[in-house]
Amino acid sequence: MKTSLKRVAVLTGGGDAPGLNAVIRAVTKTAINLYDSDVFGILDGYDGFITPGGVIPLDLGAVRGILPLGGTILGTANRGNPFARKVIRDGQEVVLDVSDEVIAAIQKLELDALIVIGGDGTLRIAMELAAKGVPVVGVPKTIDNDIGGTEVTFGFDTALMIATEAFDRLHTTAEALHRVMVLELMGRDAGFIALHSGVAGGADVILIPEIPFKLEAVLKKIHQRIESGSRFSLLAVSEGARLLGGQPVYRSSGDAVYVPRLGGVGQEVGAYIQAQGFETRVTVLGHVQRGGSPTAFDRWLATRYGAAAVRVAASGGLGQMVALRNAQVIPIPLSEALAVPKRVDLNGDAVLAARGLGISFGDELD
Ligand code: F6P
Repeated sequence: MKTSLKRVAVLTGGGDAPGLNAVIRAVTKTAINLYDSDVFGILDGYDGFITPGGVIPLDLGAVRGILPLGGTILGTANRGNPFARKVIRDGQEVVLDVSDEVIAAIQKLELDALIVIGGDGTLRIAMELAAKGVPVVGVPKTIDNDIGGTEVTFGFDTALMIATEAFDRLHTTAEALHRVMVLELMGRDAGFIALHSGVAGGADVILIPEIPFKLEAVLKKIHQRIESGSRFSLLAVSEGARLLGGQPVYRSSGDAVYVPRLGGVGQEVGAYIQAQGFETRVTVLGHVQRGGSPTAFDRWLATRYGAAAVRVAASGGLGQMVALRNAQVIPIPLSEALAVPKRVDLNGDAVLAARGLGISFGDELD
């Protein structure tokens, strides 16, 4: 069993999520305090390994005061896949595999552990690097909460708080003007943000990717509310929600480097309801959900994840990811975490609770 951890590096990859800095701080402090390690920060995700000046030393002073900060002091990149990197060669944009270059840079640094903080894309790259001998430990990050093997990712709670506050604010203006308010929320192909904030914010309809919807069913719910004396309605629409038999709505298509961008389903639902004679307004909450200071829960979880990742690395648990199970942070194989993405359980208590409250998922006409 490994007990020394002389050289540790940490990087943040993919989109940012509130709590990244709390993990960086926990990794740095734990590695220095428990193992007297030299700690390095890799700038802008994996890109930092092959960019001049992309590796910086991290000491206790470097992480002082960053616990409540959003974003990441290391920067991040959502196009920095070393196995498929866009570069300009002879004036042409080409996609190259530069992983050997990255691995050579990692070897040169003589790292005992590379702590990779990221979502499924970044962690998948970490798993590929682990297969090539890189001593990786993963930390699951995403506001979408869609990583398998863990009950929660950090960043989700903050997004939820922001989305719930948005519902509270939409509620009063919707009620005042007897309007239908549609709030489009992030989450990619998982409906956790819309479901949890919709329930917490008192939404009447929640449309999520896991439950294809019918516009007529959404309309029926609005009519039911009017019949029962409520002249306004709140709709939570996940960006990945789609019509029964239809496709998700995309803002832009992806390519070898960028994933497709979801967005626009809220407008489509809103236009339909407006056309049925209900005054409707659509809000797209967007990146507000990802910015700013993490909640206490996300700071707490991110700190535990960061500290655990260092302990896991020190005990030789490479190729693992830290995960929350039964309120305990434990290591699980990265392959297990990435095998199946997490989705809303249609028979779970959260969906059942919502249905019991009379919230419509747009899947029934009764
Ligand atoms: O995965 C996090 C997330 O915020 C998704 O909810 C959203 O679809 C996507 O990232 C937005 O990505 P970008 O910041 O590249 O627009």
